[in-house]
Amino acid sequence: MLNPAAHELRSPLTALSLQAEAGKIDLGVTSREDIVVRVPPHAVEAVLKNLVDNAIRYTPEGGRVDLHAGYEQGVPVMIVSDTGPGIPEEELGRVFDPFYRCMGNAVSGSGLGLSIVRTLVESWGGSVSLENLHDGRKTGLRARVRFPAWTGRE
Ligand SMILES: Nc1ncnc2c1ncn2[C@@H]1O[C@H](COP(=O)(O)OP(=O)(O)O)[C@@H](O)[C@H]1O
Ligand SMILES: [Mg+2]
Repeated sequence: MLNPAAHELRSPLTALSLQAEAGKIDLGVTSREDIVVRVPPHAVEAVLKNLVDNAIRYTPEGGRVDLHAGYEQGVPVMIVSDTGPGIPEEELGRVFDPFYRCMGNAVSGSGLGLSIVRTLVESWGGSVSLENLHDGRKTGLRARVRFPAWTGRE
């Protein structure tokens, strides 16, 4: 069972909410349902930490980061969205490469986070995608992790 507010994810989320607070980011959980996924909790934690860490660090002060877990057409998904600058469209495919970092990045990092996320998620048979959000002059990034559904047979 995976819910950003549920027991397994509470301790990493506490650390992340302190990080959000320090960066003056409003971190919220918008899930209404639990999802049942067939992946080890520590791996979910690593994926969540990397995506939320990026969302907090690349979003300017006063921004918002939302976590959501739910089902889309029967597929369990976890979504991390932010109100930061997003990623140039032509670089969206490359940010998953090891050590790749976008040009003009004022934030420090190794460029490994998203490559670790993709390796983990794909090792479960799931997938991860990034999508820029545009709404008038507002920008943002949405990261969506699709988990393999729990069939109840294993
Ligand atoms: N939420 C985000 N908003 C804007 N840019 C992002 C976001 N997440 C990742 N990026 C871009 O993708 C690059 C790769 O991310 P990642 O693999 O986590 O490495 P790192 O964060 O160490 O640079 C980052 O350097 C940044 O340019
Ligand atoms: Mg990162």
